Amino acid sequence: MSAPVEIFEVGPRDGLQNEARLIPTEEKVALVDALSECGFARIEPASFVSPKWVPQMADSGEVMARITRARNVQYWALTPNAQGLDRAISAKMDGIAVFGAATEGFSQANLNASVADSLARFVPLVAEARAHGVGVRGYVSVVTDCPFEGAVPPAAAADVAERLWQMGCTEISLGETLGKGLPERVDRMLTAVLERVPAGALAGHFHDTGGRALANIEVALSHGVRVFDASVGGLGGCPYAPGAPGNVASEAVDALVRGLGYETGLDAEKLARAGQMARAMRKGAVDGHA
Ligand code: HMG
Ligand code: MG
Repeated sequence: MSAPVEIFEVGPRDGLQNEARLIPTEEKVALVDALSECGFARIEPASFVSPKWVPQMADSGEVMARITRARNVQYWALTPNAQGLDRAISAKMDGIAVFGAATEGFSQANLNASVADSLARFVPLVAEARAHGVGVRGYVSVVTDCPFEGAVPPAAAADVAERLWQMGCTEISLGETLGKGLPERVDRMLTAVLERVPAGALAGHFHDTGGRALANIEVALSHGVRVFDASVGGLGGCPYAPGAPGNVASEAVDALVRGLGYETGLDAEKLARAGQMARAMRKGAVDGHA
């Protein structure tokens, strides 16, 4: 039997948050319902952030109330603060994610807080989520390249990853937010992170702006990482990372890792249908890269 690789589907969150057109709730619900049939163990359909910052995600609670939850799927959401966590618990999320950054510039742009302040804010959040029996993951954005500060020292990514791990996040997702990271730089970053956090607790989150996400996933596989975030149909981007339009497509990651002999448990035909749905929703991303 082949070794497992998990594709963590983030399209309905990381993808749709970046769309210029305000997508009707029912379209989001239909996409999540289609994804729930594909064989994913985890899907991220919601983001309980400030609606003033990301209006596209304002209806996350409603999306969660209207989807048909599949028994074998966990539904996760982003929560930047206590208000977000309260909303996530009300929506009965299976897991939440706090999200930090390896640079001050990105942290300020994305969270209106310094790296240190954001991490201090996450400590009680993580403890409270765990006390509610909710899973907790921590994202680190801009692990190799930052739109505001350029090349990011590997130790900066490792520091934030270690802090999130120590405060109780059971999985650390390493965000190559810009999709510019050369495989050699991803390799150096992972070497630094792995001195602090075990491979079994890491996930790779590679945007594909420069067409390098699949190469970077191969680098991460060689380091023992076995969870990869991806967006159906290549939906994606971060509204606070200028020039980061595309998440790596779940279909492409599925094809790559299967070709390398891993098992993802995904139904490729159902995934392709969900991909068509996602692309049809993608009418004009924020920066015109749709
Ligand atoms: P702030 O403006 O400093 O916060 O933003 P605030 O506490 O002053 O709140 C401002 C207003 O928002 C207030 O409303 C709050 O009540 C409200 P007002 O009093 O003015 O009417 N508010 C909320 N409402 C609902 N839910 C909440 C919430 N929080 C505040 N949770 C804050 C600070 C952290 C809230 C803001 O910066 C924020 O929401 N940031 C999130 C930005 C974001 O979502 N970025 C994209 C996701 S991260 C990403 O894509 C990267 C990733 O994919 C990995 C990678 O690729 O690298 C994960
Ligand atoms: Mg992202």
